[in-house]
Amino acid sequence: MALKLSFGLLALATFASAANFRRVACPDGVHTATNEACCVFHSLADHLQTITFNFTCGEDAHEALRLTFHDAIGFSFMNEALGGGADGSIMIFEDTELMDPANNGVDDAIDNLRPLLTMFDISAGDLIQFAGAVAVSNCPGAPKLEFMAGRPNATHPAALGLVPKPEDPVDMIFARMEDAGFSPTELVGLLASHSIARSDTLIDNRQAVPFDSTPFTFDTQIFLEVLLAGQESQTLPAAAGEVAAQVPNPLVAQGEMRLQSDFAIAHSTESNCFWQSLVNDQNNMMIHFHDAMAKLAVVGQDTSKMIDCSEAIPEPVPPVAKPATFPAGTGPELLQLSCTENIPFPSLATDPGQATTIPECPDGDINLNDCPS
Ligand code: HEM
Repeated sequence: MALKLSFGLLALATFASAANFRRVACPDGVHTATNEACCVFHSLADHLQTITFNFTCGEDAHEALRLTFHDAIGFSFMNEALGGGADGSIMIFEDTELMDPANNGVDDAIDNLRPLLTMFDISAGDLIQFAGAVAVSNCPGAPKLEFMAGRPNATHPAALGLVPKPEDPVDMIFARMEDAGFSPTELVGLLASHSIARSDTLIDNRQAVPFDSTPFTFDTQIFLEVLLAGQESQTLPAAAGEVAAQVPNPLVAQGEMRLQSDFAIAHSTESNCFWQSLVNDQNNMMIHFHDAMAKLAVVGQDTSKMIDCSEAIPEPVPPVAKPATFPAGTGPELLQLSCTENIPFPSLATDPGQATTIPECPDGDINLNDCPS
């Protein structure tokens, strides 16, 4: 009897493990998937990598990542009628949502991605979150993000005013994020995204103005460089109406800008110690970004009805093996630290040589479509 029972258990365990590992052949004849519903995302990943992003962490990849936030943050726990979160509304109701100045510049990513809706049988919300996760996999040092499939298409636009603006007071930003389910710490985790970010709209007559000295690498330089004190004159000429979006930074001559919001979050008592702790802590930055992005990607969605298709996200490019450094021309004397907890600041080297202009193209990228003209 005991023998019979253990055979039964063994058979059950074998069946369960076979079920776990059984893959279905996808209709494209190329891929296999754990769930047939993921097949389309394997094909989409191939298309995004070869055609849209060209396997690089360039402008198109940066913009796709930004779009994930601008779609998902259109949600309010206080009033759920205001928006459906990560539901594709920013693409479906582009004309309405892009009237919000906080969405300036996201039209490029929408224009890039929208044609894929006619090529692949997926919703706009799935397309946006999937494309962002694939995009970031091209950036050395990014974690592999999760992807849950199954967002129904939005039926109405998100209300204007739900996306934080760089000139907003920090308490207003925290309140907005909390209303969408995010703590100040989670926001700092999300802001690792500004490690691969450049502005096209805030500086007069200039595009692709980076937020840190390594805008094609998902590293912790952003957390360090935002902590370097700038003098009053160290700002770039602002585009019309954007003076308050920017605060001084000492790398202005190298072409860098600093968002008022990043600066304020780096110094608020609610987030300054955590911000500071991420300097030169690649692993922790990756973990916190991964977890906060997993949450962001499903804001407003019923995850019990979604299917985990994370397997379709490419393996990310590994981190560059270089610790954070003070860019040439700066140094520890410029550190502006406001965390009063007893957290030792890492001892970092300074890049040798003269201060140089921050490159405008990813290293080795010969596809100039990804570079600013
Ligand atoms: C307090 C919250 C945030 C504010 C105020 C903010 C503001 C901005 C602004 C003003 C820009 C420049 C846009 C332009 O001129 O082209 C920008 C770029 C960017 N943001 Fe944010 N952001 C926030 C949070 C986030 C989050 C949570 C993500 C992603 C998860 C994100 C990802 C990006 C990326 C990747 C870019 C670069 C886009 C490019 O290079 O074309 N941001 N952000």
